[in-house]
Amino acid sequence: MVDRDWADFYRWTLGREPRPLFERVMAHAGTPGQAVEVGFGDGTETLALLDLGWRVLAIDPAPAAADVLLPRVPPDALPRLTIVTAPAQVATLPPLDLFYSGFSLPFLPPAEFDVFWAGLRAALRPGATIVVNLFGPKDSWAPDEAMSFVDRDRIEGLIDGLELLVLDEVERDGEAFSGAKHWHVFDIVARRPTVAPEP
Ligand SMILES: C[S@@+](CC[C@H](N)C(=O)[O-])C[C@H]1O[C@@H](n2cnc3c(N)ncnc32)[C@H](O)[C@@H]1O
Repeated sequence: MVDRDWADFYRWTLGREPRPLFERVMAHAGTPGQAVEVGFGDGTETLALLDLGWRVLAIDPAPAAADVLLPRVPPDALPRLTIVTAPAQVATLPPLDLFYSGFSLPFLPPAEFDVFWAGLRAALRPGATIVVNLFGPKDSWAPDEAMSFVDRDRIEGLIDGLELLVLDEVERDGEAFSGAKHWHVFDIVARRPTVAPEP
C-alpha cells in the first residue's frame, strides 16, 4: 500500500464529480473562510472549494497531485490556494473553518494519524466543520498495518466534545483502482461548538 502510484490513480479519477459526502455538506456550508483539504488527489474538491470562495490549504504528499491540480486553478483563485506537497502529519495547520478529507486519512500510519488528529482538533475554530471518510475494521485493506482503521468506539473518542452531524456506516463489495475490494467506510461530519460546553 505504501508504494502506490498515485499518478495513475489521478488519471483514473480525473473528470469525476465531487464526492457525495462533500456535495452533501457543501450544499449547506456557511460563509467561506479557511478550508484545509488533506489528500486532495486530482483536486476536484479543492477546485470546488475555491469556486465557492474558500481559502484553501491543500495537502498531499504525492507531487503528481499538485501537477494535476495547478493547471486547472483559475488565475483569480490562485491567491486563495496554498499547496503543501508533504504528508499531512508533518504539515502545520492554520486555524480553520472547514476540514475536508475524502478517502485519504486511512493512508496515514496509525501513530501518524494520532499526531495529525491532535493537530487538527487544535486547529478548529469555534463552529469549524470536519468532513471525513474513515475506514472500518471490516475493510479489505484492514490487515495493512501501515494504514489506519477505526471502529465506532474510536470514532466517539475522535469527535469527543464536537457536535456530531453525520455518522453513516457503509459496507459493500465494490471496486477500487487496485481491483475488487470490500469497502467499510464511515462518513463523518462533526462541528466544534461555537460555545464551549459547561464543565
Ligand atoms: C484514495 S486517494 C483520494 C484522493 C481524493 N481525495 C479522492 O477522493 O479521489 C488518497 C490520497 O491520499 C494521499 N495521501 C497518502 N498518504 C497521505 C498522507 N500521509 N498525508 C496526506 N495525504 C496522503 C495520496 O497521495 C492520495 O492523493
